[in-house]
Amino acid sequence: MKKLVFTFLFAFGLSNAQTQEVSIIPQPVKLVVEKGNYTINSKTQILLAGTGLENSANFLNDFLQQFYGFKLRVVSKGDFKNKIVLNYEKMEYPIAGAYQMHVNKEGVYIAGDNATGTFYGVQSLIQLLPTEKIQNLPIPFVQIEDKPRFAYRGMHLDVGRHFFPTSYVKKYIDFIAMHKMNTFQWHLTEDQGWRIEIKKYPKLTSVGGFRNGTIVGHFPGKSNDGIRDGGFYTQEEVKDIVKYAADRYISVIPEIELPGHASAAIAAYPKLSCFPDSSTKHPSKSPWFGTTEGKQVQQTWGVFEDVFAPTEYTFNFLQDVLDEVLQLFPSKYIHIGGDECPKTAWKKSEFCQQMIKDNNLKDEHGLQSYFIQRIEKYLNSKGRQIIGWDEILEGGLAPNAAVMSWRGESGGIAAAKQKHVVIMTPTTYVYFDYAQTKPEDSLTIGGYLPLKDVYNYEPIPKQLSKDDEKYVIGAQANLWTEYIANTKKLEYMLFPRMTALSEVLWSPKESKDWNMFEKKLGVQFKRYDFWNWNYRK
Ligand code: ACM
Repeated sequence: MKKLVFTFLFAFGLSNAQTQEVSIIPQPVKLVVEKGNYTINSKTQILLAGTGLENSANFLNDFLQQFYGFKLRVVSKGDFKNKIVLNYEKMEYPIAGAYQMHVNKEGVYIAGDNATGTFYGVQSLIQLLPTEKIQNLPIPFVQIEDKPRFAYRGMHLDVGRHFFPTSYVKKYIDFIAMHKMNTFQWHLTEDQGWRIEIKKYPKLTSVGGFRNGTIVGHFPGKSNDGIRDGGFYTQEEVKDIVKYAADRYISVIPEIELPGHASAAIAAYPKLSCFPDSSTKHPSKSPWFGTTEGKQVQQTWGVFEDVFAPTEYTFNFLQDVLDEVLQLFPSKYIHIGGDECPKTAWKKSEFCQQMIKDNNLKDEHGLQSYFIQRIEKYLNSKGRQIIGWDEILEGGLAPNAAVMSWRGESGGIAAAKQKHVVIMTPTTYVYFDYAQTKPEDSLTIGGYLPLKDVYNYEPIPKQLSKDDEKYVIGAQANLWTEYIANTKKLEYMLFPRMTALSEVLWSPKESKDWNMFEKKLGVQFKRYDFWNWNYRK
């Protein structure tokens, strides 16, 4: 058979009306499309030729059941003919996820360098399936060799500003898996809501998990809806989500914000504040609902002055919280926030000023650095590493901290030059809460981040030497939810920008091609429709 070698999209639309165009996103490293189809139907079997590949078979079967209405029998013995074979082939690639795949008249053969790779091969197979509910699923003959470019391919979700239930967090994790991404940063604590059950401190969720109202419209808000809003994840739900993600080769990194963005925790336990007896302040222009007496969970957006006091009470509290968090999350990294911590309260507090003197710290930035370093020491003693937003560079980096560069790329560049691990999340390329159009087509936080800018993002800054480049382990898009109150809107902000990011993180830099990506999006839009994912057209 004559082989047709295409690095990009190829269509056999004329020879078989039902065959999907070959449009795999992220673009595989090597993709050869050959003439002909193999048909999957309810009689096809999945053969587990290697051990430990059940996750891949289960994912494929759940997917087939959901969208085509049938499952395949899974067997562990027999010849490879007329089956979907899941296996291993050694590819000796340092980043987990390399795989190879062949579809020919014998069937489908998917072999990963490891179980993660086989799983990604299944994701590519899913993208060869027709986008309509039929019984015989023709898939084009292909040969694929593929591997990820970056080790860290992340998505973040803020469940503090708006809460999303466990079932939806799982759907979000499926989005991550189906884009061959591997990290979910779960932003669990905020001024507007504390979302994770901590058994030792039940008020964190019974008080901190709910607010009495939310501003309506753009900050500062034209009114307040006066609706009690919130929710939290029980520890059982957290375990369930972490397992669900692990079955998809996704690491869940919890984010417990400190020392700032702590209003909800302080509302629950006022002693965490430098000034426990003073009522919560909020911008006077933001309409408030209910009492303003005492410590309150915030109802508006922004950065607030009431932050954790660096007292022994607070450090004991945080260590207790982290002890429970570590029991739930096996991730190497724990995100400790570190961003947007105003120093106003610390400046006014006699205790903090004395602490700065006693510890020979330069100023309040030094105190922030002291705070982070104490938490880092604690987490390192438990075998974990911290990640912090780039503000943790101010006043001196904690010795082993990884830095998430969000205020542009400069924090990431500085950290990589100091030989610290860096994850790039600059607002300019990967803040998916920014508007996709000018003027904005729906209520957003502002900013402007069109699809093409995401696609053209290059995570390795030019300023880094060859030696320092290796500290940039990948990138992540952040989804802050001040203006995202429902899942339809959430997906509208996500897609297709997340799809573009997946190619940035996975595909070789040389193979990126905006025009080809735009063409592939035609098929991707059909998938979004078929899978019932909302998106910006
Ligand atoms: C951030 O956007 N405050 C990290």
